[in-house]
Amino acid sequence: MSAPRVELSTEVEPAAATAPKTVFIKTFGCQMNVYDSERMAEALAADGYAQTAAIEEADVVVLNTCHIRERAVDKVYSDLGRIRDIKQQRLADGKPTTVTIAGCVAQAEGAEIARRVGAVDIVVGPQSYHQLPSLIARTRTEGQIIATDFPDEDKFAALPVRKRAANTAAYLTVQEGCDKFCTFCVVPYTRGAEFSRPVAQILDEARRLVASGVRELTLLGQNVNAFHGVDANGREVSLAGLLKALALIPELERLRYTTSHPRDMRDDLIELHASEPKMMPYLHLPFQAGSDRILAAMNRKHTAADYLALVARIRAVNPALALSTDIIVGFPGESEAEFEATLDMVRMVQFAQAYSFKYSARPGTPAATMDGQLPEAVKTERLHRLQALLAEESTRFNAGCIGKIFPVLFEKPGRRAGQLIGRSPYLQSVYADVSASAIGLILPVQISGAGPNSLAGVVCAA
Ligand code: 5AD
Ligand code: SF4
Repeated sequence: MSAPRVELSTEVEPAAATAPKTVFIKTFGCQMNVYDSERMAEALAADGYAQTAAIEEADVVVLNTCHIRERAVDKVYSDLGRIRDIKQQRLADGKPTTVTIAGCVAQAEGAEIARRVGAVDIVVGPQSYHQLPSLIARTRTEGQIIATDFPDEDKFAALPVRKRAANTAAYLTVQEGCDKFCTFCVVPYTRGAEFSRPVAQILDEARRLVASGVRELTLLGQNVNAFHGVDANGREVSLAGLLKALALIPELERLRYTTSHPRDMRDDLIELHASEPKMMPYLHLPFQAGSDRILAAMNRKHTAADYLALVARIRAVNPALALSTDIIVGFPGESEAEFEATLDMVRMVQFAQAYSFKYSARPGTPAATMDGQLPEAVKTERLHRLQALLAEESTRFNAGCIGKIFPVLFEKPGRRAGQLIGRSPYLQSVYADVSASAIGLILPVQISGAGPNSLAGVVCAA
């Protein structure tokens, strides 16, 4: 499938700035925020801003926030206290600072934050961040601006085209928003309705990333396997169709996607894990809870048995595939026996990796007002028990890798001189002694050691 090429002349070159302007961006939360921060940095680079890691030197400060759990919001408020002091200090030195709250907290609570913290100049939601350069210009005359409407224009089409990625493995957002409305989750409210990017736009972005050295792409979406884009001929394309089209890019060697909903794991996608060698044998598939009563209260639209049957189908197609998951403990009304059903699921599936959370009541979501909200101490105790089990599972998975030879994509220098860090097909960090010229290469590595979070190995002689 060939996509219409975007003329290179449409690229926006950084403005020739008299004094270099700088932006500091701090990213909270998920990979989609990491991707959005990169795109914001690119939009600002086209306006003459260089990124800085020193917040005190930044003309523009962006907090790209996450609203999924409570502590994320608390962190934003504590950062804002510090930023307000820095802003005052800089102003005393004659240097103004534009403070921007972006991301899902901006969408959900931005107006409230702006009211409470006068130092905030711009509140911009996840669907409007392409407007950031013009918002910065406007705030100088208009004061505080709140941009949290869902605009009609395509944010991705409005952003400057991508030129280079920071790493040999890159994220690419293909789908945003969610229509599933799990009762605990803010995403349908903060990111809006499910939306898939056009296939041609995605292929163009992927080709540009690959031309700049990217060898591994992770397609992102809150509900990525619900992707249903339209190709250049107006035909509907599923996530499997998109992945097949991407696999035709010669120098692109590895493909991943996250996060998937069990209900949207279609057969064509499952089968691709056997037929397409570029698909990495690793799938993030949240199950959230092991009790059917809790799953129903969560509005997950699947039972524990549905999930187990799906895992069996996936493993029948590709027995080497490893799974990771998300789990919530302490959902309203969860009994001890219902929590133990979650532990049973973990034992049955044997995840390679998992992310586990205490239920956090999110304002405006149905679960926040359900009866049976559990005391913090109960949630904490359950989380500890679950995490102890998950640590055993991931340690066992990693130990089982010892002696195997994995193709490892080397990404960056390790802790010691002469060492690099790469990624295994199972997304484990792999440390190996190899020259820096191996960055961007995929080399066979025999795994010699395993810790809870990483592997060590020896590059095999050619
Ligand atoms: N409380 C705790 N965890 C949550 N998640 C989403 N919303 C909440 C909440 N209110 C978790 C889910 C989801 C992951 C991204 O975050 O497990 O899959
Ligand atoms: Fe949130 Fe995922 Fe449920 Fe959508 S499917 S509501 S993003 S947990």
